[in-house]
Amino acid sequence: MAGKPVIIDCDPGHDDAVALLLAVGSDAIDLRAVTTTFGNCSVEDATRNALQILTLAGATDVPVARGAAGALSGLSTLGNYVHGASGLDGPPMPAPAFDIVEEPAPAMMRRVIEKSSEPVTVVATGPITNVAQLLLDSPESKEGIREIIFMGGSTERGNHTPTAEFNTYADPEALDVVLQSGLPVRMVGLNLTHQALAAPAVVERMAAMHHTVGQTCAAWMGFFGASYNRIWEFDAPPVHDPCTVAALIDRDVIGWREAFVAVELEGKWTRGTTVVDLHGRYREQAPNAKVAITLDAERYWDLVLKSVDRLGRQS
Ligand code: RIB
Ligand code: CA
Repeated sequence: MAGKPVIIDCDPGHDDAVALLLAVGSDAIDLRAVTTTFGNCSVEDATRNALQILTLAGATDVPVARGAAGALSGLSTLGNYVHGASGLDGPPMPAPAFDIVEEPAPAMMRRVIEKSSEPVTVVATGPITNVAQLLLDSPESKEGIREIIFMGGSTERGNHTPTAEFNTYADPEALDVVLQSGLPVRMVGLNLTHQALAAPAVVERMAAMHHTVGQTCAAWMGFFGASYNRIWEFDAPPVHDPCTVAALIDRDVIGWREAFVAVELEGKWTRGTTVVDLHGRYREQAPNAKVAITLDAERYWDLVLKSVDRLGRQS
């Protein structure tokens, strides 16, 4: 069976990198395009990193377009404090074997969606600026979008600030556009991704793979894990972004709940915080998203490692 047509908009970033490998290595996904955004690092670095990751994965036929250098507000909040100076610090990466498509990310998204014979799933694993820009520039594109599934926000605490998760903090106006779009939206927040820990047993499975892709993933987990331990005292890093892709491959890997979700745009201390009404307390607000609640972590890691090993053996 042909894979689902998917566009991944990302800010690679160690966990974005694993999300790209999961997608490329799975027959359930037809990765039509990758677009890049500022976030974990500058958009220039994220774009170079995306080309390097896809080169490592042997996916040099996937078109890549550079996207937003900053939020709809113009601000550019960067996460190099987690991902290092390059945005993908740790192991050496291959030089890109191909170049980007010289068109803005929203324009490429629109073109890919228009050309597709079936609706396209949009996966966003960074600040969701490019997706919001697409919806603002080309509202007619909505007809060709099956759903938007994004990593961001949280039903509980944040990370970049005590209440706001990094992606939503970096561009809350963009998430507001997406939440008000009327499109099917699935939210994968920190409450879910903190169940996706790359524990030592997981990293050992990567390190036991006798190929560059597996060794690179293990080294990424080493760098990412050191950052998470230094900043947030985690014993193992939560590998956030592949959770979005895993949900497209295996419908049972995540449990969902419909809820009204809003993003705070005004709060002095709470800007970028997602407010997730899991119990319908805002009676006048109908649910506008499906929110990820439970992860089958064993199933998740089996999916990720299967893709990583498959790509490694092919390389
Ligand atoms: O808060 C975690 C999210 O912010 C992840 O997507 C990570 O890659 C960064 O973009
Ligand atoms: Ca990301």
